[in-house]
Amino acid sequence: MIRLIPNSANQIKRAEEICFKFDDQLIKAHKGETILVALMKNGIHHLRDAPTDGKPRGAFCCMGLCQECVVAVGGKLVESCETIATDGLIVQSLRH
Ligand code: FES
Repeated sequence: MIRLIPNSANQIKRAEEICFKFDDQLIKAHKGETILVALMKNGIHHLRDAPTDGKPRGAFCCMGLCQECVVAVGGKLVESCETIATDGLIVQSLRH
């Protein structure tokens, strides 16, 4: 395979690493990332269950419109695609 664009991944400077909890799982993220981005990077896509049929739901629009990515932070429902992850945050899914 011919690489037309030089690989410059090692030149990217990432923001400071932080950790938060999603249910009982420790999630690593970089400062400035949304909760959704951090979860997806860690392979987590199932954020809640549909209230009608219980089927798994996850992010759809990724811009705060659909409410499919809602999770609980401190007992409050927030859109994970619009909420910045912070160190020590406790996030809970709405999975049953
Ligand atoms: S994915 Fe649509 S509001 Fe977050």
